Amino acid sequence: MEIKVCVGDIIQTRSDVIILQYFEGSERLDGDIGTADRALGGAISQLISKGEIKGKFKEITVIYTLDKLPSPKLVIVGLGKKSDLNLEKIRAAVAEVCKTLRQKSPEKIDSLALGTGMPGIELEEIGQAICEGALLGTYTFRKHITKAADYKEIKQLNIMVTENKNIADMERGLQKGKIISEAVTLARDMVNEPANFVTPTVMAEIAGQQAQKHNLGIQVIDREEMQAMGMGGLLGVSQGSRQPPKFIVLKYTGREADGIDVALIGKGITFDSGGISIKPSEHMGDMKGDMAGGASVIGAISAIAQLKPKINVTAIIPATENMPGGSAMRPGDILTIMNGKTVEIISTDAEGRLILADAVSYAIKTRASKIIDVATLTGACRIALGDICTGLFGNDQELNDRIISAGKAAGECIWPMPMNDEYKDLNKSDVADIKNTGGRYGGAITGALFIGEFAEGTPWAHLDIAGTYMTDKEQGYQVKGATGIPVRTLINVVLALAG
Ligand code: BES
Ligand code: ZN
Ligand code: MN
Repeated sequence: MEIKVCVGDIIQTRSDVIILQYFEGSERLDGDIGTADRALGGAISQLISKGEIKGKFKEITVIYTLDKLPSPKLVIVGLGKKSDLNLEKIRAAVAEVCKTLRQKSPEKIDSLALGTGMPGIELEEIGQAICEGALLGTYTFRKHITKAADYKEIKQLNIMVTENKNIADMERGLQKGKIISEAVTLARDMVNEPANFVTPTVMAEIAGQQAQKHNLGIQVIDREEMQAMGMGGLLGVSQGSRQPPKFIVLKYTGREADGIDVALIGKGITFDSGGISIKPSEHMGDMKGDMAGGASVIGAISAIAQLKPKINVTAIIPATENMPGGSAMRPGDILTIMNGKTVEIISTDAEGRLILADAVSYAIKTRASKIIDVATLTGACRIALGDICTGLFGNDQELNDRIISAGKAAGECIWPMPMNDEYKDLNKSDVADIKNTGGRYGGAITGALFIGEFAEGTPWAHLDIAGTYMTDKEQGYQVKGATGIPVRTLINVVLALAG
């Protein structure tokens, strides 16, 4: 879908469909909707007085204009109460409109900039939200379906502004929204793609393509070099797989001085069978998405490279399968992480923290000033927070707060979880420095504390996306399958840190 801004009078535009807004409880029909109502001989006010149009959030009413307006169809979208409007609602409303209209395969849609004129919401932000709602809401993953869809994608969405002076702001917002939506789409695609298509090698190739396209530095560390560097966690997890592991590093330099301001680390398990401690077969297929953290940081840094904040960022993705092959690691084995710490393996299914331990150690060694890791780490986090909020764990209140507010702006709920020292005892081992599971209870917390051991004194935060990386609901701009969470939060955090 191409999204553009144009100046003009929406009521007089010739389009397949024009979109207007209506707020719940509005008394008078003024502005464009008033003009449309008069042209249609009072049809809209009649629908309102009969209770057909209430203006409830996401309510969609299609009206045929019967040659009384240049466009054959007019859609009135409800935005709820005026005082409750926010950017998240704009994203969701636009997504809803696009998804509904797509069924009828219109080529071109012209829309009012929904929500304009609201105090506290900038035009640029509206442009970004419209773009995100339209592009993410109409996302599909049909690559492996040979039959064509029974609709055609909307080709063009024009956002109408009334004055020339508004074009630049709207244009900037649309551009930003487009870059960010592409990043989310990239992450969603990687997660939706099955494990026979996205292997660690393919993840490294995708990272390479992004590096080339957006001028990022890239380094892919292979098994031999991992051995030389002592990445015992990643090597141990990869032992049972035929697929070679890859340790992928992408580098964005936004300010002259060297040094890494933020390292974004993403878990890159391209398939998690559980290894020798094999998982039950039910829903095991969902574990094709156990690289969602890695996909998110690749998506985020690709967008960052285009938005060009003045900050240095690296994305680090330890990538491997977790398989139960003949040379797989066993429960009871002891591994040595890159920083020299030893780990007793209790469950080979607690593999994420092992590869993240190496990645965090690598980030520390390369002197990253702040570390954020993203991982589908624990079923326990999914039990705790469901598919609504991502769990946040960290050792630095300021970084935590930044991530929470970045999430709010993105419409991605990030919820702080406890990290009391008392939980640390659960990770104690009798035969090594630490063990890789702390038991069922508080499992998301002991998982986070395990990773935190490797952060040493560096400000670090961990996002457990086990509940939020996928959804089985269609809701607003989220569609079934991969959500692309927390790509937009990560981008917002980095932009905020850059100041
Ligand atoms: N990838 C899983 C966690 C997961 C579960 C993600 C469901 C998304 C949906 C992770 O590697 C895992 O297996 N965790 C174990 C840890 C346990 C063995 C301590 C879990 O949560 O059961
Ligand atoms: Zn896993
Ligand atoms: Mn696992």
